[in-house]
Amino acid sequence: MLSYQHAFHAGNHADVIKHLSWIGVINALKKKDKPFTLFDTHAGAGAYDLTDEMSLKNKEFETGISRLLTKDSSTQDLPHLLADYLSLCEPFLAQQQYPGSPAISAKAKRDCDNLHLMELHPAEFDKLDKNLSRLRSLNTHVHKRDGYEGLRALTPPKPNRGAILIDPPYERLNEYSDLVKGVEQVFKRWQQAQIVVWYPLLSERAGAKSGASEAMCDQLAALGKPCFKAEICVAENTVDAGMYGSGVFVLNPPWQLDANLNHALESVIGMLGAGEAGFHATAHVSWINEDN
Ligand SMILES: C[S@@+](CC[C@H](N)C(=O)[O-])C[C@H]1O[C@@H](n2cnc3c(N)ncnc32)[C@H](O)[C@@H]1O
Repeated sequence: MLSYQHAFHAGNHADVIKHLSWIGVINALKKKDKPFTLFDTHAGAGAYDLTDEMSLKNKEFETGISRLLTKDSSTQDLPHLLADYLSLCEPFLAQQQYPGSPAISAKAKRDCDNLHLMELHPAEFDKLDKNLSRLRSLNTHVHKRDGYEGLRALTPPKPNRGAILIDPPYERLNEYSDLVKGVEQVFKRWQQAQIVVWYPLLSERAGAKSGASEAMCDQLAALGKPCFKAEICVAENTVDAGMYGSGVFVLNPPWQLDANLNHALESVIGMLGAGEAGFHATAHVSWINEDN
């Protein structure tokens, strides 16, 4: 049943909003000296070769990261979160690669911080293992296991501070409800977990999956934690649009992540520019349960 391969999508607009948000969470955790633990429940291959057949099939990176990192771009005048993301991506892009969330976490964390990467697909796991050993990141552990089962076994971490990235492929409809159950169970053991959930925005063409992300966000909000969502749309939500954008739902967000992300996304949509039919990318950040 595991057929999804992220290489087809590496570096697209969805990776941009997901990885920007995740770096924002890691940056906030680094403000204190005390070590923290990061969990990536659906890690993928770790890093992606943009010259391989899969990445070149639709060249999704060309309308994502490539538009942000052009020869003329300088990170100097950019919002600091966007500048951090682009500085981290630059050395990978120089080798025609894109860093997946595992490489991003490994590069952004400090040696004292822990990183647990979970991947179930055997071939993706082997690539993850190889890619991460090349990065020689200390206190980094790769696990061939189900992400939610891994969270049950490994949380709460000691010391009790850290964050979770949940980025499923959403190939099956029940992945939306599995995610809500997984988050609910984590909060029973680890109230303070900061959680970033990525989700697709799908038009009517996706059938039963259209509207599933919105319903999942409502269920996550009902857990009662402070939370906001940030979304990028790259096409109009017409019947045939397919995936017209994506978002992140952030639970227990760190202070000022909403403002930093908003600022970064304003620049991102200008750089992504016009998509199909001349539609200009849009972005918004909105609180669901305010952090009082
Ligand atoms: C969207 S990709 C991950 C991309 C990665 N987070 C990134 O940003 O670079 C989703 C991955 O989850 C894996 N996967 C699917 N179900 C899983 C599960 N229950 N536990 C762990 N991994 C799973 C798939 O094999 C796939 O590699």
